[in-house]
Amino acid sequence: GSGQAAVSNFKRKPVIVIVVGMAGSGKTTFMHRLVSHTHESNIRGYVMNLDPAVMTLPFGANIDIRDTVRYKEVMKQFNLGPNGGILTSLNLFATKFDEVISVIEKRADQLDYVLVDTPGQIEIFTWSASGAIITEAFASTFPTVIAYVVDTPRSASPVTFMSNMLYACSILYKTRLPLVLAFNKIDVAQHQFALEWMEDFETFQAAVNADSSYSSNLAQSLSLVLDEFYKNLRSVGVSAVTGAGMKDFFNAIEASADEYMETY
Ligand code: GTP
Repeated sequence: GSGQAAVSNFKRKPVIVIVVGMAGSGKTTFMHRLVSHTHESNIRGYVMNLDPAVMTLPFGANIDIRDTVRYKEVMKQFNLGPNGGILTSLNLFATKFDEVISVIEKRADQLDYVLVDTPGQIEIFTWSASGAIITEAFASTFPTVIAYVVDTPRSASPVTFMSNMLYACSILYKTRLPLVLAFNKIDVAQHQFALEWMEDFETFQAAVNADSSYSSNLAQSLSLVLDEFYKNLRSVGVSAVTGAGMKDFFNAIEASADEYMETY
């Protein structure tokens, strides 16, 4: 921790893994895969669900916002639409988050990870006060890492790729936490192209230029900005469907947690 108070009772475990991703990235399937992997590999994990509106989860959650906040009731009581209902539910849960932290602290010796699933609408978590409060509460108590799930086949066009990376970049600067890019669906499309673009911005700029429907100085400039961003993260290829890349993913989380212990 950066503050003195944080250093004194800061433990290396559990590592909090906050999983975020654009709609369709496969976040839910990926969470399910992470949970199965921990069970199969004797990794001791807690699962937390922060999506109040999810009807059925394909995996069990040890801590579930739905046990505390009734989303449908919140919508009725405050006369809100679906997104307002999710946001207000998250606000209500955030006010009790110290209790959630205590529960994890009590179990800390028996836990390697806490896998945190966030609402399907990514911005509800990444751009809300309660999302920031929850993230900060985690990060001031445990090493905390963001896992950003990327839809690899849908990011094959250079401009879509760049938009996706800019979004991830904004999350990095907003949370200031270590970030792992999980290039998902590698059973459909390998993420090699992404690694090449991230390694060498000239390769990326050439790809943008080759996309003749789109020639832009902005894209050229942004690729330079992103070059700096790429140096601050780890990326792995995964498939939530086949289970490929799980070891790499957890290695990247461990390395990020080590970095967290050194820097924060
Ligand atoms: P939420 O927003 O959390 O509801 O989930 P999501 O929309 O991000 O992802 P979801 O898990 O519902 O997956 C979206 C689609 O991608 C589904 O059709 C999944 O079957 C598919 N999918 C997810 N992971 C993979 C993968 O690794 N490979 C392939 N081929 N398809 C995947």
